[in-house]
Amino acid sequence: MVRPTPGDVVVPIATLPGMEIRQARVDDLADVAVVCDASARARWTERMLSPNEDRVALVAVTGGVVVGAAKTHFHGEPDGEAPAGHYLGGLVVAPGFRRRGVGSSLTIARLDWIWARAGRVCYFTDETNVASIRMHEALGFRLLGRFPQIRGVTADEPDAAMLLFEAVR
Ligand SMILES: CC(C)(COP(=O)(O)OP(=O)(O)OC[C@H]1O[C@@H](n2cnc3c(N)ncnc32)[C@H](O)[C@@H]1OP(=O)(O)O)[C@@H](O)C(=O)NCCC(=O)NCCS
Repeated sequence: MVRPTPGDVVVPIATLPGMEIRQARVDDLADVAVVCDASARARWTERMLSPNEDRVALVAVTGGVVVGAAKTHFHGEPDGEAPAGHYLGGLVVAPGFRRRGVGSSLTIARLDWIWARAGRVCYFTDETNVASIRMHEALGFRLLGRFPQIRGVTADEPDAAMLLFEAVR
C-alpha cells in the first residue's frame, strides 16, 4: 500500500494480509494486555478503551488476534514547551508482528481521525527509542525540541532526554 501522509511524504507500507484497524472496545482489554506485557509496557485500563469524543483508541487485528494498539490524548492546555491539542500516545505492536507496517497503519488511522478535527498533532518519546522516532519521522513528524521531561514524562534512562515532535495536516 502506498498513501500520502502529512507533509506530502509518500510511505510504502507492507501491511499484514487481512489486517484490520478498528476502534478498540472494552472487551479488547485482555488482548491488549497481552501485547503490552510482551512489550514490557504498562497495561491499558478499561477507561482508555472506553469511547470518548476527545480521543480515539484503535487496535490492529489479524486472524482474530490483536497484534497492536494505539491511542490519542487531548490536552486542553499547554504545559511548558508542550502545546495544547491532540497527541499520539500509547502505540504498541506485539514483538512477533513488528516491521510489517502495523505501527504505521495504526498511526495513519489515528492521523486520519485527528485531521478530521484539527490541523496539528504532537507526539513525544524517549530519545533512545529509535524505532518510534524513525517510524514517526517517516510519517512526516518533525522535531520541535529536546527536553528533560514533557508533560511530566521522563526518559527511562537517567541521562536521556525526551523529544517532542509535531505533524501538520
Ligand atoms: C515503535 C513500534 C510501535 C513500531 O511498530 P512497527 O509495527 O514495527 O512499525 P512499522 O513496521 O510500521 O515500521 C515503519 C518504519 O519505522 C522504522 N522502524 C520501525 N522499527 C524500527 C527499528 N526497530 N529500528 C529502526 N527503524 C525502525 C522503519 O523505518 C520502518 O520501516 P521498514 O520496516 O520498512 O524499515 C514498535 O517497535 C513497538 O511496539 N515498540 C515498543 C513500544 C514503543 O516503543 N512504542 C512507541 C512509544 S512512543
